[in-house]
Amino acid sequence: MRTQIGIVGAGPAGLVLAHLLHLHGIESVVVETRSRKYIEERVRAGLLEQGTVNLLIETGVGERLQRECLTHHGIELRFNRRGHRIDFDALTGGKTVTIYAQHEVIKDLVAARLAAGLPLILEAENVSVHGLNSASPSIRFRMAGEEQEVHCDYIAGCDGFHGICRPSIPDGVLTEFERVYPFGWLGILAKAPPSSEELVYNYHERGFALLTMRTREISRLYLQVPHDEDINSWPDDRIWSELRLRTAVDGDWKLNEGPIFQKNIAPMRSYVVEPMQYGKMFLAGDAAHIVPPTGAKGLNLAVADVRIMAQAFAEFYATGKTHLLENYSQKCLRRVWKAQRFSWWMTSMLHRFDTDNAFDQRRQLAELDYVTSSRAAMTTLAENYVGLPWD
Ligand code: FAD
Ligand code: DHB
Repeated sequence: MRTQIGIVGAGPAGLVLAHLLHLHGIESVVVETRSRKYIEERVRAGLLEQGTVNLLIETGVGERLQRECLTHHGIELRFNRRGHRIDFDALTGGKTVTIYAQHEVIKDLVAARLAAGLPLILEAENVSVHGLNSASPSIRFRMAGEEQEVHCDYIAGCDGFHGICRPSIPDGVLTEFERVYPFGWLGILAKAPPSSEELVYNYHERGFALLTMRTREISRLYLQVPHDEDINSWPDDRIWSELRLRTAVDGDWKLNEGPIFQKNIAPMRSYVVEPMQYGKMFLAGDAAHIVPPTGAKGLNLAVADVRIMAQAFAEFYATGKTHLLENYSQKCLRRVWKAQRFSWWMTSMLHRFDTDNAFDQRRQLAELDYVTSSRAAMTTLAENYVGLPWD
């Protein structure tokens, strides 16, 4: 097999890239280890920045999104039993964020790719990349017991944090920057209407809690738990009673409860590699960087990376110039580090740390008080939350 761009991974980064390349008239083959059912059902992100939403709509894959999404004009920060609204409309000149599940985005992108009759290889085994410094790098894999090879001009490593692309780069090339947090998020999906119109970020002495949603009937709820927590020690009753404690507020608000139908624990990490490229391979999304989920930047960063990558490939195929490809990392990393800073800041402000002492708690509460009372501070939060400008 031969193509122009070989894409490893059919997550948001790989599928958005394949879609953008197609619109530029550039051929690609996507190689993914999982099945269609698996990638279309994997529960992850849910909050899309306006730039991400605009890109999906403008490139023709936002029709169902527009029909089914929920648009939000603000969030609530809740602490000391009081809620404080951050008003995105007023603070960002009318920008919004959108709730639409990541796996729904995946379904729309897979449907578009298959409808266009373009190659999406699923359930590939033993995927590996070769010749990263050669004129024709390749992706090898096993399919139905047979070895296959896709030769290409360039490889896009979109295979997530645990993929094979980043580790295929020789030792000594990449510099890693990392922070691991002493906690994770226990996330649930419940058949219960959202308890508030907008997302509620709760700071509490027992730990952080987030109230978000997927639809008008389904709530998505997260609890801070220790990083090595066993999910089996969280029966449904315990989850609801902990959520009730951490979200309690003065007044007549009440947490809506219902049957829990999905439960998992995700670890929290900040991670970046520099550069995000080596020879003929370019990394995008979680393959190159991870943010802790507070502030919902991961998927949005993945889309921002591949938008820049697609522009660079388009310039190369139109003019033969490699200038944008050479500057790919540099351009992405400016945005990546700002999202890292924001995600780290939101995480640090809202979670309880093992090392917490009374001073740190008072400092966190002072910060929350400042962020919810100073217009300058609220604007900082709001402009980062809705998404910094693309360019
Ligand atoms: P992935 O989604 O990880 O996709 C990589 C793909 O590559 C996968 O399909 C994988 O199966 C495949 N793959 C792996 N190895 C190989 C291989 N060897 N060969 C071929 N294919 C391979 N982000 C937000 O923006 N907003 C949110 O609200 C948000 N909430 C989150 C909540 C939670 C609980 C979690 C865990 C994450 C959240 N994120 C959020 C982060 C977001 O889900 C990720 O940043 C996003 O999935 C990254 O996309 P990606 O395409 O880079 O990687
Ligand atoms: C969601 C996840 C987040 O990390 C966040 O900050 C907001 C929303 C979500 O899954 O809906």
